[in-house]
Amino acid sequence: MTGRLEGKIAIVIGAARGIGEGIAERFIEEGASVMIGDTEVGAGTATAERLGARFLEADASRKEDAEAIVAETLDAFGRLDILVQNAGIYPWTLIENTSAEEWDSVMAVNLKGTFLAAQAALPPMKAQKSGRMIFTSSITGPRVTSPGHGHYSATKAGINGFIKSAALEFAGYGITVNGVEPGNILTEGMKAHRSASFIKSMEDAVPLGRLGTPRDIANAFLYFASDDAEYVTGTTIVVDGGQILPEGADFRLNPD
Ligand SMILES: NC(=O)c1ccc[n+]([C@@H]2O[C@H](COP(=O)([O-])OP(=O)(O)OC[C@H]3O[C@@H](n4cnc5c(N)ncnc54)[C@H](O)[C@@H]3O)[C@@H](O)[C@H]2O)c1
Repeated sequence: MTGRLEGKIAIVIGAARGIGEGIAERFIEEGASVMIGDTEVGAGTATAERLGARFLEADASRKEDAEAIVAETLDAFGRLDILVQNAGIYPWTLIENTSAEEWDSVMAVNLKGTFLAAQAALPPMKAQKSGRMIFTSSITGPRVTSPGHGHYSATKAGINGFIKSAALEFAGYGITVNGVEPGNILTEGMKAHRSASFIKSMEDAVPLGRLGTPRDIANAFLYFASDDAEYVTGTTIVVDGGQILPEGADFRLNPD
């Protein structure tokens, strides 16, 4: 089926590459017009050109930038139907080595960025009496974790809490708020910040036998953005190939 987002206007923050790029691409395939916001101007412009989206330089951690991308979208398209805040950073650092500055920087992009985007998108959606807000969480934090993910886990668990509060506060305005919890998705960010052995260990831990793709995650965003999710708010979908299911490492029926 195509055209599930025909005529819809979407912002996707953190979409120059990786999962965000996949979300923007999937939305456009289904008929949406998309405004991409990202700190990476070269990559963001190239992605926007490839997809037929618009691009605005925007840092998710800055209130002015969240307001600017909403204003720019309203200027260009006259309305805003779907907000995606996907920008996230995941430096790998043990808690004992994490500086207060690094802690703050992860909070600023992942968690504060989610709040700022929601707050900026609220006025036009409230005026329209409709809107979809969809945030990128993670299985890491809300469900599972591994060493080196202290700050990151805290932000993603925090996003899930924020989703519930925002869903409740915005329900009366006709706005739904949901999130997607990706498992391990092979993106540039993943390759840059995680070792080959970590990536291999994650691959081995997925019952469906492979790491995820940005499109796997984008399909869950599409569901929340589409009419099919009209009555769904305040929740998250885990998209992880079954990774959080096993009780232990030796979970295969036939390990050989
Ligand atoms: N890759 C995974 O396995 C995985 C798993 C669970 C959750 N996630 C989450 O998915 C999201 C995307 O991850 P990815 O793997 O595609 O990462 P990525 O590093 O490949 O891409 C992230 C994009 O966000 C942009 N970005 C970073 N900081 C920004 C900021 N301050 N403002 C605006 N844009 C910014 C980057 O320039 C890039 O375009 C993140 O929120 C991440 O935490 C990823």
